[in-house]
Amino acid sequence: MVPSVGALILVFLSFLILSTLVNFFHKMWWVPTRVKRIMTRQGIKGPPYHFIHGNTKEIAAMKEQANITRFTEISHDIYPRIQPHFFTWFQLYGWEKLSGLVWSQAELVITEPDIIREIANNHRATFARPDLGSYNKKILGDGLVTSSGKKWASQRKLANHVFNAMVASVELMLNRWKKMDSNEVEMNAEFRMLAAEVISRTAFGSNYLQGKEVFEMLKEMGTIAGRNYYNPRHLGLLGKIVKSNDDLKSDELQKRIHNVIIKTVKEREKTMGHEDADNTDFLGQLLLSKNNIINSQGYQLSTQDIIDECKTFYVSGDGTTSLLLSWAVLLLSIYTEWQERAREEVFQIFGKETQPHFEGLAKLKIIGMIIHETLRLYPPGIAIIRKNEREVKLGNLIVPANIILHVPVLALHHDYDIWGGDAHLFKPERFSQGVSNATKNNPSAYMPFGFGPRNCVGSNFATNTAKVTLAMMLQHYRFSPSPNYVHLPVHITMLVPKNGVQVMLHALK
Ligand SMILES: *[C@@H]1O[C@H](CO)[C@@H](O)[C@H](O)[C@H]1NC(C)=O
Ligand SMILES: *[C@@H]1O[C@H](CO)[C@@H](O)[C@H](O)[C@H]1NC(C)=O
Repeated sequence: MVPSVGALILVFLSFLILSTLVNFFHKMWWVPTRVKRIMTRQGIKGPPYHFIHGNTKEIAAMKEQANITRFTEISHDIYPRIQPHFFTWFQLYGWEKLSGLVWSQAELVITEPDIIREIANNHRATFARPDLGSYNKKILGDGLVTSSGKKWASQRKLANHVFNAMVASVELMLNRWKKMDSNEVEMNAEFRMLAAEVISRTAFGSNYLQGKEVFEMLKEMGTIAGRNYYNPRHLGLLGKIVKSNDDLKSDELQKRIHNVIIKTVKEREKTMGHEDADNTDFLGQLLLSKNNIINSQGYQLSTQDIIDECKTFYVSGDGTTSLLLSWAVLLLSIYTEWQERAREEVFQIFGKETQPHFEGLAKLKIIGMIIHETLRLYPPGIAIIRKNEREVKLGNLIVPANIILHVPVLALHHDYDIWGGDAHLFKPERFSQGVSNATKNNPSAYMPFGFGPRNCVGSNFATNTAKVTLAMMLQHYRFSPSPNYVHLPVHITMLVPKNGVQVMLHALK
């Protein structure tokens, strides 16, 4: 007897359905349950896992609750608002070790300095940066911020080249400020423009408008990514088949960013051979390295690498610098005694009129302390995220493969045990004897730029740009808070002031 075609199809379909079901239960039930059991056995507590949703529903509810609550005054105690779920779980399950499950993805929160050090010092590429989801990948590309393995070492050297050349460009921004006659200024927008200008002019040699275009598009993608971070839709098959408006929008933005950068790269490649071509900037260095057949790390940059790198440069340079400056100016407008001390220091080192010089930057001790304290209270990156690719031992802990390791930077920066009962107050004097004195030699207590050899290449850029900008602002203006300012720090990829930072400028005469 020959089986009918119908019967064969039936068998095939049953098999398909069965394997889909098995896969589904493996991912949604078996893996999370197993991870939970391993964690519990080692004394790591956390919220119970709910089938399919994990803890996403609770997280969404807590975020909404936190979102409704408004600050009645300017408070720096922002962690409960920014990460209400972890804040609640710390109180329920303890702070030392915690495992939360987000979707079916387990997240292990690490606050123990020894374990953080182990992760930071890990040179065996066990801890790759996780796949941040399609939106973030589109923003960051596979550049310095997300790439792992041997790529970054050579790229980082190139990126360092640029930062030295930047200081001079900040002055261009200050001319714009001098012409401003309105008293109230929205600082965040100003500083984003400043960052765009500095980066576009010095790094890409492109004009400001081209830079600005890329920035605006990246910012829009950042908003979309923030909106979709806890959207479980992206887990399932549905998210892959049916594209939402946000998907389409971000696809389109990505294409446009890609095109602008490609155009800039192509234009530069054409002029590179010219005798008077200046290739000392970021893009020039990247292109030179691309053309060195193979560099010392044995890795050759591709055009895609260059595009990723340019995007990373825009994102990290823009975000970190403009946020650091925005929060710093807000804090100085509130704490006028520190504003005065900073101004005195600037007058002492640079005088009242003269432009800052590079050697002077290192002497700005008070401003350095203010920058540290600003980054402590308002670090642009609120957490460091790693994913362990295989089972590892961390301290006494056995951590199963594919767990997100979450180092809660913002929570550590506000921890009473580390910083004392005044942890939520603005007190730059903590840093008067340097960072290691302030943290009592605990490097994991303060990580505004991440940790390890991969820490953000933008940190020098951001700090130096902030120093120059603050110094020149202080030379020319006194600033006070605007009555229109509404204190609303939110987490949209970075820690940003939702409604901007409105400050009143008063010209010094
Ligand atoms: C927070 O509340 C505002 C309105 O007050 C709303 O527009 C926004 O979408 C809310 N955000 C979240 C994450 O719920
Ligand atoms: C920090 O500096 C102060 C003043 O010099 C000193 O008394 C204190 O012992 C230092 N603390 C640490 C942990 O180094």
